[in-house]
Amino acid sequence: MEFSIKSGSPEKQRSACVVAGVFEPRKLTLPAELLDKASNGYISDLIRRGDMEGKAGSTLLLHNVPGTLCDRVLLVGLGKEREFHEKEYGAAIRTAVKTLNETGAFDASLFLTETSLKKRSIAWRVRQTAAIALDATYRFDQFKSKKDDVRRPLRKLTLAVERRNELTIAEEALVQGEAIAEGMALAKTLGNLPANVCTPSYLADQARQLAEEFKLDCQVLEREDMEALGMHSLLAVAKGSHQPPKFIVLSYKGAKASEKPVVLVGKGITFDTGGISLKPSAEMDEMKFDMCGAAGVLGTMKAVARMQLPINLTVVIPSTENMPGGSATRPGDIVTSMSGQTIEIINTDAEGRLILCDALTYAERFDPAAVIDVATLTGACVVALGHVATGLLANNDALARELLHAGEEAHDRAWQLPLWEDYQELLKSPFADMTNTGGRQGGTITASCFLSRFTKKYDWAHLDIAGTAWKSGTDKGATGRPVPLLIHFLLKRAGKLN
Ligand code: BES
Ligand code: MN
Ligand code: ZN
Repeated sequence: MEFSIKSGSPEKQRSACVVAGVFEPRKLTLPAELLDKASNGYISDLIRRGDMEGKAGSTLLLHNVPGTLCDRVLLVGLGKEREFHEKEYGAAIRTAVKTLNETGAFDASLFLTETSLKKRSIAWRVRQTAAIALDATYRFDQFKSKKDDVRRPLRKLTLAVERRNELTIAEEALVQGEAIAEGMALAKTLGNLPANVCTPSYLADQARQLAEEFKLDCQVLEREDMEALGMHSLLAVAKGSHQPPKFIVLSYKGAKASEKPVVLVGKGITFDTGGISLKPSAEMDEMKFDMCGAAGVLGTMKAVARMQLPINLTVVIPSTENMPGGSATRPGDIVTSMSGQTIEIINTDAEGRLILCDALTYAERFDPAAVIDVATLTGACVVALGHVATGLLANNDALARELLHAGEEAHDRAWQLPLWEDYQELLKSPFADMTNTGGRQGGTITASCFLSRFTKKYDWAHLDIAGTAWKSGTDKGATGRPVPLLIHFLLKRAGKLN
């Protein structure tokens, strides 16, 4: 879908469809009012007769509205004005795009960016609208032999701004919104791909392709390289698998070489059976999503490279399957991590931290400004925060606040959990420096305590996306989170967030 920005009146738009909002009960937004005036009260008449209450999610499609230059007017219900916040704004955009796709309109002018959600800047509204509108048209049907094609999909969407002097800032925000959507689409597709396609080698190829397309630096370490580096914790997870593990490093340089990079580390378990500590079979198919951390950091990299942000960014992905087998790691096995610390592997299903810890040690060599790891790490996080908030833990409060704020801006929110010393004792092992599990209590926190032992040399934050990276049930699939959060964090650091 193609976007453009325009300032102008809704009744003067020569497009296939003009979209305007109506609040509940029966309150026209300013663009809807302008359409009403031009049509001599045509719209307010309909509303008085009860055709449109303004309920959230409702729509009313009108043809040949008198006094306008467009073929159609689509009224979108926004719900109560006082309850109209970021979430409702996003839902209205989604409804508008879905409905437009069903109308046969080839192009449309969207007047939702203009009036609603006064507290948010014009840049925010445009960025969010573009990202959500594109996300709403995302499809994953490459394995369907019969695709349910949209008859006449919407091709062009014009976003309206009120004033001409807002055009420049809106144009920049539009580019950002498109980049966010593209990053999310990549993250979703990699997440949705089955584990027989999306293997560690496949992820490595994806990284190489990004490097090719955007002139990035890409390095893929093989098993022998990891052995030489002493990544025995990561390799312990890979032992049961016939797929070779890959350690992917991708670097983007948009700032001076002297500027420290942000390092994003993504968990890349392409399938998590649990290993010898085998998972129950119910819903085990969803463990193909256990590489959504990797997918998220690759998506973020793609967006950053596309926007050419003036920052340095490095992405690190430890990737392997977690399989049972004759040579798989056993519960009770002890390994030495790259950091030199020894780990007693009590439960082979707590594999994410085992691959991340070596990646976090590896990250030291970049002298990072900050390291953020992204991982579908614990079922406990889903219990604690459900599917709404990403879990956030950090060894630096300023960094944690930056990420929380980025999540608010992106409406891709995180919630902080404590990383207090008190929890560390749950990782005591009688035989090694630590165990890899802390028992049932505070599972998300003890997992982070484990990681914190490998991140002492830099500012670090951990995002547990176990509850937010994908949806179960009838609309099963990857969500593209936390790509919006991460991109907003980086936009802010780059001074590009208006
Ligand atoms: N990938 C899972 C975490 C997970 C579980 C994410 C369910 C989403 C839904 C992770 O590798 C895992 O198995 N974690 C264990 C840790 C436990 C053994 C300490 C868990 O959460 O049960
Ligand atoms: Mn596991
Ligand atoms: Zn896992």
